[in-house]
Amino acid sequence: MIFRGIRFKFSLVILFLLVVTTLSFSVLTLKAVEQYFTGAVVSKAEAISRSAAASAAYSLLSGDMLGMDSVVSRVKASHLNVDCIAILDNSMKALAHSDLKKRGHTFSPGPGRLMSLDRYCSVVEQKGGMLEALAPISFFGKQMGYVMLEVNRSLLQRARESARASVFQGLVVAIMLGIAGVFLLTTTITRPIKELSAGVQELKAGRKRHLRVYSKDELGQLTRNFNEMSALIVEQKDRLARYAGELEEAYVSTLRVLAAAIDARDPYTLGHSARVAQLSVKLGEAIGLPKKELEDLEIACLFHDVGKIKTPDYVLLKAGPLSAPEFKEMASHTEDGTNILSKAPSLAKYIPAVRHHHEWYNGKGYPDGLSGDRIPLHASIITIADSFDAMTSTRPYRSSRSEAEALKELLRCSGTQFNPRLVELFVKVYRNEHEGFILSELI
Ligand SMILES: [Fe+2]
Repeated sequence: MIFRGIRFKFSLVILFLLVVTTLSFSVLTLKAVEQYFTGAVVSKAEAISRSAAASAAYSLLSGDMLGMDSVVSRVKASHLNVDCIAILDNSMKALAHSDLKKRGHTFSPGPGRLMSLDRYCSVVEQKGGMLEALAPISFFGKQMGYVMLEVNRSLLQRARESARASVFQGLVVAIMLGIAGVFLLTTTITRPIKELSAGVQELKAGRKRHLRVYSKDELGQLTRNFNEMSALIVEQKDRLARYAGELEEAYVSTLRVLAAAIDARDPYTLGHSARVAQLSVKLGEAIGLPKKELEDLEIACLFHDVGKIKTPDYVLLKAGPLSAPEFKEMASHTEDGTNILSKAPSLAKYIPAVRHHHEWYNGKGYPDGLSGDRIPLHASIITIADSFDAMTSTRPYRSSRSEAEALKELLRCSGTQFNPRLVELFVKVYRNEHEGFILSELI
């Protein structure tokens, strides 16, 4: 995770740039140092050879060999980095040489890289780094010979090594300071970003988090804007939740009124839906349904006979038993209820309970002939509560039965019309609420 973080990536980029920049700067510095010292050595070689040429002119003119030896010895003794010096005549024959064995030898300028050239001196870099200076010896414009000297670059080498060591030390210090700087910089820059990221996560989870403002720059402004925005979002969310709660309350109240209005069409079913809801919720609690599902079950109960709004009065209010066509008309209330609820997507979840609350456990119910556990649970619960309330209410064609008789009927039809496990629970709930009720008396 740390290798994917913004801080790691940011540090890597800055560190890479830092190392590249420092290395480039070091290489350029070393090159400049070398150029400077090479120039210094060349200048020194020029100066020594010119000075020696001036000193040797009188001795060469007068053929004073001792004088020429003296010049050679003096120069060699005075300059440690001069490896050898010779005074040559115009045919490049050594008249005097710091190495006595080479006196009389004829020299020729060796190949190499020309470092400087003017009328008074030329300097050539030989293979191996040795600098060879050649200065003409003149007297009143007449050239009489040359001073040739070889200067070693040991001084330059030492200076170069010293410079390299200094540059390396500087490089290490710069990189160490750079790493510390990168750490501080990335911490300073990425901390607000990381906190902003955490704040957004909290906000996504619905929690408000006030972030600390670390600076007055753009990041600080961004953090301030985030704090204001999150406060606004949380406030709007709370307000929406309040509105949603109020809306839901109003919605449920409307449903209750609608259910009561449907029941009121038939004086015999007045309050039926509310009672079915009460009984169903008790059974649902006994099953252990969660709170939200119990709320849905209660609303489904209020809707279970909404399709009867289309049932004609001559069928709905008929005092006697229904004929086959009339029964068909009455039975269609489950499909009519389905059609009504399907008009509103938010009510669609109640359709299974409404459509199937007249299905039988043995598959002989309507409208789809579902059986057993294929019947939706809410529908199976409503079937029992609906039948119990219908049996214990007075209807135009019969008087009401006692609750004990209704329970007995539920038990008789358990496994055929009703789900046996739900009937058993329903009876158990009834017994718990009515102490002293002995079930065996019913059977
Ligand atoms: Fe019904």
